[in-house]
Amino acid sequence: MKKRVLFTIAMVSLLLVTCTRRKSKLTFMVGGAPNEVEFWEKLTETFEKKTGIPITLIRQPTDTDQRRQGLVIPLKSKQKDPDLFLMDVVWIGQFAASKWLQPLDGYIRREGFPLEPFFGRVLESADRYNGELIALPVYVDGGLLYYRRDLLQRFGYRSPPQSWAELVRCAVKAQTTLRRENPNFWGFGWQGAQYEGLVCNFLEFVSSNGGRLTTKEGKPSLNLPENIEALGFMVDLIHRYKISPPNTYTEMKEEEVRNLFQSGNCLFERNWPYAWSLHQAKGSAVRGRVGIAPLPGFGGKPGASALGGWHIGISRYSDAPAQAWEFVKFVTSYKVQKELVMGLGWNPARVDIYDDREVGEKFPHLPALKGVFQTAVSRPNLPYYPQVSEVIQRWANRALAGKIGAKEALDKAQKEAEEVMRAYK
Ligand code: GLC
Repeated sequence: MKKRVLFTIAMVSLLLVTCTRRKSKLTFMVGGAPNEVEFWEKLTETFEKKTGIPITLIRQPTDTDQRRQGLVIPLKSKQKDPDLFLMDVVWIGQFAASKWLQPLDGYIRREGFPLEPFFGRVLESADRYNGELIALPVYVDGGLLYYRRDLLQRFGYRSPPQSWAELVRCAVKAQTTLRRENPNFWGFGWQGAQYEGLVCNFLEFVSSNGGRLTTKEGKPSLNLPENIEALGFMVDLIHRYKISPPNTYTEMKEEEVRNLFQSGNCLFERNWPYAWSLHQAKGSAVRGRVGIAPLPGFGGKPGASALGGWHIGISRYSDAPAQAWEFVKFVTSYKVQKELVMGLGWNPARVDIYDDREVGEKFPHLPALKGVFQTAVSRPNLPYYPQVSEVIQRWANRALAGKIGAKEALDKAQKEAEEVMRAYK
């Protein structure tokens, strides 16, 4: 009898321990273009089959600001779900400073997990906070110029433009002629809506004119003459040269720009690498007619690409961190990183994939892009970056709408950014 009681107690305790150690399902929050989320769904299924660890995917929108807000709510209220999520490189600082991320060093040391395959610059600048590793990069992004190869040829251009002035000349010429056949044709699509993508575009124009968003000491330098000139040029693209549509400042985010170009209604497009595979997919009106190049610069200055990208982290409030770590390892493994490139055309965070033969055959432009990422310009890495970004978004967008001059907009933005810094520092 005594034996039986002891046995029952032992079984109940074992059950309790198992239950508290392993909750029923991991939850992973991820967004993106519809094809990207579908891809993640397949990956989570594979992970579940392979490891026996159940995982549910929670779909998020495409827009990075909305994705951040969707995560801030559960994290602020210390909810156990989601266990894992993808983070835009620009919000990691805020998440780390808020102590919402589990440090990964313990797992890495214990398992001898190698960090060498990842882009060192990306890892060190984004994933380490106060010396602790709090995330791992999944893919890197850099702004690129997509162009219609067939149309450049038709109008007598041998190569894509290297300067913004050349791009305008070429776009005006093509648009004027093509409008006779197609009234919906535009010269150049880019992201000008009031959201984070506008800051990336602004940073690229500014940097390709020798400007910058902050001083070397990290103070805002938004109203530099180079920046004012660059914003003035962005305004001109819409209102003076009229090669970018008026809805650039009301609607144009990544997907809107991609759709404009992919429907065959645009000569040049500024977008991230993900657009390539979709342009080349079956059913795309521009399939086989697209070229990819670095973004142009002003005068003889080199073009600049904004450094973007998404990183995976484990919530500090997760009640299954060890299982979540298994998923982090899975996503950053060579095999899955290669699948992400082959399936989505993303640029992997692992340098070793760039030398993969099969990847090189499918994406011949990839090795050249490695250089773009290594020199891409970062947005300021600040815990209160979202607040600074909001100021830039609002004033740059007002200038694009033609409501205020570029100088006045950036003077106002500078003042507000200084106030944000004072308030948060
Ligand atoms: C891409 C980039 C990200 C950036 C966002 C802006 O997703 O990877 O870093 O913030 O676009 O829309």
